[in-house]
Amino acid sequence: MPVSTLVWLGDKIKIIDQTELPLKLKYLEISDIPTLKEAIIKLRIRGAPAIGIVAAFGVCIGIKHIAKDASKDVLFAALKTTISELKQTRPTAVNLAWALDAMFNTAEANRQRSTQTIKEILITKALQMYEEDRADNRRLAKFGAGLIPNNAQIITHCNTGALATVDFGTALGSIFHAHAEGKKLHVWVDETRPLLQGARLNMWELQNEGVDCTLICDNTAAFVMQKFKIDLCIVGADRIAANGDTANKIGTYSLAVLSKHHNIPFYIAAPVSTFDFALEHGEQIPIEERGADEVIQGFGKRIAPKNSRVYSPAFDMTSSSLITAFVTDRGIINPPFEQTIPNILC
Ligand code: MRU
Repeated sequence: MPVSTLVWLGDKIKIIDQTELPLKLKYLEISDIPTLKEAIIKLRIRGAPAIGIVAAFGVCIGIKHIAKDASKDVLFAALKTTISELKQTRPTAVNLAWALDAMFNTAEANRQRSTQTIKEILITKALQMYEEDRADNRRLAKFGAGLIPNNAQIITHCNTGALATVDFGTALGSIFHAHAEGKKLHVWVDETRPLLQGARLNMWELQNEGVDCTLICDNTAAFVMQKFKIDLCIVGADRIAANGDTANKIGTYSLAVLSKHHNIPFYIAAPVSTFDFALEHGEQIPIEERGADEVIQGFGKRIAPKNSRVYSPAFDMTSSSLITAFVTDRGIINPPFEQTIPNILC
């Protein structure tokens, strides 16, 4: 059974601390906003769908101290502060803003009700989004599995499994579904420098599910494509613009270019909540930059001179021209994306 990366305990959130994997399966209970912000910023919980849903529960935590007879002004002030603080934690994954906006809109739509009722409605809303993410992933994974042939050799990048979502996963979920259907598969796992989501998290999840997998350094993917017959690449997304340009973990773009060169289908698996219809193209997607220490301080010790200048974007942008198709919870989206992506909403 895939793990539960986050659970709502009624007044606090329980998460797996992903920074400890694969050495320790350690849980954290979070009952205040500073701790939640730290957990998101430090990637204790990560992956676009997972940070969206954890932030939705964060809204409930941010207003739990508001007395039931407090005025609506007091409640909405606390709501706005919480939402604005959580939105700033990670800028690229649109699921975060999407989930927080959905929480705010729900509160607004119920403004005429009592403070206590609005607080209860928001918990129900977060739980509903949690269940929807679970169901969306299962549907998406079934569509994705349809693109994976028996005996497939697959390359994937960054973690997109149960750890990155409420349950099961997107790109990895598609692989899990194909595996459960009895297909024989072999997955080449990019280690995903600098924070090693592939090595630490994908290998852990794939091994737990009994899927045959081999870890490679990111710079080995080209040689693997040259030497072996790779059937497809499948990865996740943090934000997809209306024309299909996609931001995902740094290294995704190089994998897409390599796939094009080697004539390998390149699939992006993501729920509809990852599409940002307000952005026309990928250049408008904000790309998070991370601190130098994550590059300089690798593998438990310093691996570069102390004062090394570092450029560490957490994500890159893959042009839609390099993408074969999108796997979503509403089906497979094929080109021409300018026409087919807006149709998802119909
Ligand atoms: O920095 P991370 O680990 O949060 O980045 C995660 C990714 O890039 C994933 O591919 C993406 O969020 C999709 S997770 C289903």
